[in-house]
Amino acid sequence: MSQPTAAPTTAIIILAAGKGTRMKSALPKVLHEVAGRPMLGHAIAAAAEAGANQICLVTAPEQHAVRAYALSEAPEIINCIQENQLGTGDAVRAAADAVSGVERVVVMFGDTPLMRADILTQLSMSDADVTVLGFEPDDAATYGRIVMDATAPARIVEFKDADAETRAVTLCNGGAMGVHTEVLSALLPLLGNDNAQNEYYLPDLVQLAVQSRKSTALVMGDVDDTLGVDSRAGLAKAEARMQARLRAAMFDAGVTMQDPNTVYLSHDTVIEPDVRLEPNIKIGPGVHIAGGALIKAFSHLEGVTVGPRAIIGPFARLRPGTVLGADVRIGNFVETKNANIRDGSKVNHLSYIGDAELGLGVNIGAGTITCNYDGFKKHLTQIGDGAFIGSNSSLIAPVTIGAGAYLGSGTAVSSDVPKNGLTVTRAPRRDLKNWADNFRRQNQKED
Ligand code: UD1
Repeated sequence: MSQPTAAPTTAIIILAAGKGTRMKSALPKVLHEVAGRPMLGHAIAAAAEAGANQICLVTAPEQHAVRAYALSEAPEIINCIQENQLGTGDAVRAAADAVSGVERVVVMFGDTPLMRADILTQLSMSDADVTVLGFEPDDAATYGRIVMDATAPARIVEFKDADAETRAVTLCNGGAMGVHTEVLSALLPLLGNDNAQNEYYLPDLVQLAVQSRKSTALVMGDVDDTLGVDSRAGLAKAEARMQARLRAAMFDAGVTMQDPNTVYLSHDTVIEPDVRLEPNIKIGPGVHIAGGALIKAFSHLEGVTVGPRAIIGPFARLRPGTVLGADVRIGNFVETKNANIRDGSKVNHLSYIGDAELGLGVNIGAGTITCNYDGFKKHLTQIGDGAFIGSNSSLIAPVTIGAGAYLGSGTAVSSDVPKNGLTVTRAPRRDLKNWADNFRRQNQKED
């Protein structure tokens, strides 16, 4: 039996030194988010998923925030500085010295958030010395054109340098490239900048390879893989395409969405089979929804674990640190944060439950508030199994409500409540006979 060939060791170089001026933003371009994660995060994740042995990031000297983000995502990342932005070829040169002991180098861009790991893997696994990523958009616009000889890429011509005949070519350069390391080392110094933009073009490696009798090859991607973001409109387009991908994956995973175009997911959303999502739902990062749950319309979830068969919303806001057990009910206009609400508990109407531990089968009446913040610190509210909190109660934390306790409606508690009793704090009732009549008469006379 033949052994499977081991994957070649690979460094992936992510280029992100471009200025991104068309974003008109104080935030560096690659830190703008798509599906709840900075574009650079998508690139790093794809590189890691493709099995890169090294990941090198090329940034401009002033891009401290980009380097800091990259290190927070992948502490092993190698930061390389491109002193002046002289083109994609020059950017790769800035990383070439950092690449060591690997057989292959794959170059990708930090602003193509939909680039798939398997494309990077194909570029890395290719036997050809230089492998380029091609795609065929409806409109070839100003992309670089890949000129083929009989079977393999002969050269790539940038739009600004192309004559009419070359501009008519429909096969476009997607930007990413795979190169055998020793070929890259040999060819990089040969790149020139005698072209319309006076830049060192990475795609010129193709022609240099052919001239040096090295082999070239083409890997085909689709328009999403290569979708580069350089404007706010481009960012919105990338978001739309990413959402389409994420929704398709949810359908494949057995999730029902009545109106998928109105459900917004995050890059890391995990939803188990037989979850139903009604229209107009926003799911931020860090959400896991267990099987059989129903999320009703206009709900917003972020950093949340939802238990099996739970029913959420409509109009619920579940904030980070919310953990809901099985069969929990969270109703309309309820906000939760950092709250562990165990199996069978109900918070059905107009409540705020923050920094709280609720036991099994707790019932929270309408308008209940955990008063968790004293202006300086957050405090914990604990509610035992089976407790019943009457409507419009204020639980002034830190406070513990014993298991099975009843709180009468309108109760405000700031000290612990014993289990299984009834606790009520209410101002004594007064009935002032004819007070209203007298009041009206008096005011009418004064008119
Ligand atoms: C590049 C390709 C083009 C291809 C297109 C696909 C070149 C010369 N052209 O053009 O053939 O069709 O991608 O989208 O490669 N960058 C640096 N340092 C630099 C210049 C760029 O790090 O000095 C980075 C940018 O941050 C960006 C990426 O490289 O992430 C691509 O640069 P950009 O100038 O946008 O290239 P395109 O014009 O898109």
